Amino acid sequence: MPGDESWHHAVTGDAIEPPASFAEQANVTDPDLREQFAREWPDCWSRAADLLDWSDDYDAVLGGDGPPFRWFDGGTLNASYNCVDRHLDERKNQVALTWEGRLGEFRSYSYLDLYREVNEFAAALRELGVEEEDVVTLYMPVVPELPIAMLACARIGAPHSVVFAGFSADALAMRMDDADSEYLVTCDGYYRRGAPVHQKNKADNAAIALDDGIEATVVVDRLGVRDGGESSDAADDAPLAADEYDYDDLVTAHRGETVEPVPRDATDQLFLIYTSGTTGEPTGVRHTTGGYLAHAAWTSHAVLDIRPEDTHWCSADIGWITGHSYTVYGPLALGSTTMLYEGTPDHPEKDRVWELIERNAVDVFYTAPTAIRAFMKWGEEHPASHDLSSLRLLGTVGEPINPRAWKWYHEHIGNGECPVVDTWWQTETGGMMVTTLPGVDDMKPGSAGRPLPGIDAKVVDGDGEPVEPGETGYLVVTSPWPGMPLSMVEDDGWFAEQRPLYPDLSEYDWAYFTEDGATVDEDGYVTLLGRVDDVINVSGHRLGTMEIESAIVGVEGVAEAAVVGGDHELKGEAVYAYVITEDGYDGDEDLRERIIAGVEDAIGPIARPEEVVFTTELPKTRSGKIMRRLLEDIANGETLGNTSTLRNPEVVEDIQSKVSND
Ligand code: WTA
Repeated sequence: MPGDESWHHAVTGDAIEPPASFAEQANVTDPDLREQFAREWPDCWSRAADLLDWSDDYDAVLGGDGPPFRWFDGGTLNASYNCVDRHLDERKNQVALTWEGRLGEFRSYSYLDLYREVNEFAAALRELGVEEEDVVTLYMPVVPELPIAMLACARIGAPHSVVFAGFSADALAMRMDDADSEYLVTCDGYYRRGAPVHQKNKADNAAIALDDGIEATVVVDRLGVRDGGESSDAADDAPLAADEYDYDDLVTAHRGETVEPVPRDATDQLFLIYTSGTTGEPTGVRHTTGGYLAHAAWTSHAVLDIRPEDTHWCSADIGWITGHSYTVYGPLALGSTTMLYEGTPDHPEKDRVWELIERNAVDVFYTAPTAIRAFMKWGEEHPASHDLSSLRLLGTVGEPINPRAWKWYHEHIGNGECPVVDTWWQTETGGMMVTTLPGVDDMKPGSAGRPLPGIDAKVVDGDGEPVEPGETGYLVVTSPWPGMPLSMVEDDGWFAEQRPLYPDLSEYDWAYFTEDGATVDEDGYVTLLGRVDDVINVSGHRLGTMEIESAIVGVEGVAEAAVVGGDHELKGEAVYAYVITEDGYDGDEDLRERIIAGVEDAIGPIARPEEVVFTTELPKTRSGKIMRRLLEDIANGETLGNTSTLRNPEVVEDIQSKVSND
């Protein structure tokens, strides 16, 4: 919280200029762009819209005085047309998608190939009964069929809801129920470190748990079993039921068919994606067609500096917003080559990422600090053994990056010649909001940068007043932006309900609180300090503590649980669970295992507790609130401050003695 000592991080000093060789050729070279956007706001955003093809031109960049905020009001467009069809004239034979599978397989699709398969699958979805506005859930690892299915949905105006493949059956069912989604595209399974994961079994278990049934399930044959592939596991070989369809059979049956892209209003929904917040259940964030796509395309152009001849690799899983905006929609809207990688960065060897960059001559690489910390740990000899000279720009996203990791990335991956953009944004913002323009702005390791042109973000105190340089506060956005989600467009009160506002923002006509803490320096560079709500960031993945707690209290023998995030060298944060057992149960290995299994069943392995600490009591204030901050300090092995406000100070020592700080 602002004013809290533990929030003080030094603002980083040493600024690094963009390399001249980069600045000369950058997509954005105008040093006055921020001023210009500010003067011309909101019309400045027509530059983003101009990167797209519109079926009907919009009447106003921002319609009405808002809310509702109708970006590109009156305009119609189709996202699939923008990402595929319109590139055919100039580059039908250029590679649109290039994919590397977990077993070392390789596939690539030209824009013409992509056009064909997106059309064929769109025709198949229509035949299965999918209509405009029907939500189609996509539950697959990073295989080419995933972006193809996304674009096929977009083509017919059916919002997609991609659910990260690692989520459990329960997590899938909750999302399908919440979205009233009756169509599912999944796969039979996929390989993880050489062993098959039975994705279809998880989907089947989800189907049983659904309130309403599933109209149709499409199954991608990823294990290659029905085609007589490798897996010998009987479970993979289960025949499809009457309402289940093989992806390849569907595409083959619709060979050569085309489907007219459905013109969508700029404010019509393109997709929804679930993310974790303060509440017990994840919430669906709905994004628009025009505003979102313009924001994704503009930031891909201005920040990632992507151009059509580039090969771009965003290493995020498509199941997260980063993959939506910067693997699929942004790069394809610009007509570049986007690279997909299904595997892990250290399999088969720790140089896998660098080998892929060298082999595919990747121009732009966008990854997460958690990955960069792992690369550092594995050693610089791995990147050094490959030719990485194709790289022109590096990016990071997902969590704060410490200056040491930033510098390592800059030096050992970028050879000191590539700008590094540290991009701050969220599922809710749709695209990047605070970062540097790589051909224009100085970089400050550890600090994301200034708000992008046209973005009104500030760091404020509890009264909503901008803080002085060096002070800590809350990051808020005080004007709408094109990538804002539908709930904010409509301003139906959803956001205020979801996140009780900490700072008093009543002096602004409209404002959005990001729930991130930050500082700002004298140059206006924002350094992020992490979430101020109950969201933990594990390896760049957002998890709500409430969600994990409710999974744990669902386990037989558990009376009460408190979950916090503790610092973790590689993951950024890790899940710490403090658990009180019910009478008659012991905090033993059996219960610990059942708790871990309970969390994996309810959410998935990413939420697995790093440590489960059994205790007889949780530290509580006199009013009965659990002191989470104290539990975080215990997890981090920090010296504890004053515990005299506790109702039960004696419990602290007991808990401390049980946490292993290694
Ligand atoms: C954090 C991911 C520091 C932040 C795109 C935010 C960051 C949350 C950065 C959103 C960054 C993201 N520096 N922190 N460059 N980028 N975050 O919704 O706490 O999965 O609120 O979106 O990640 O996570 P989400």
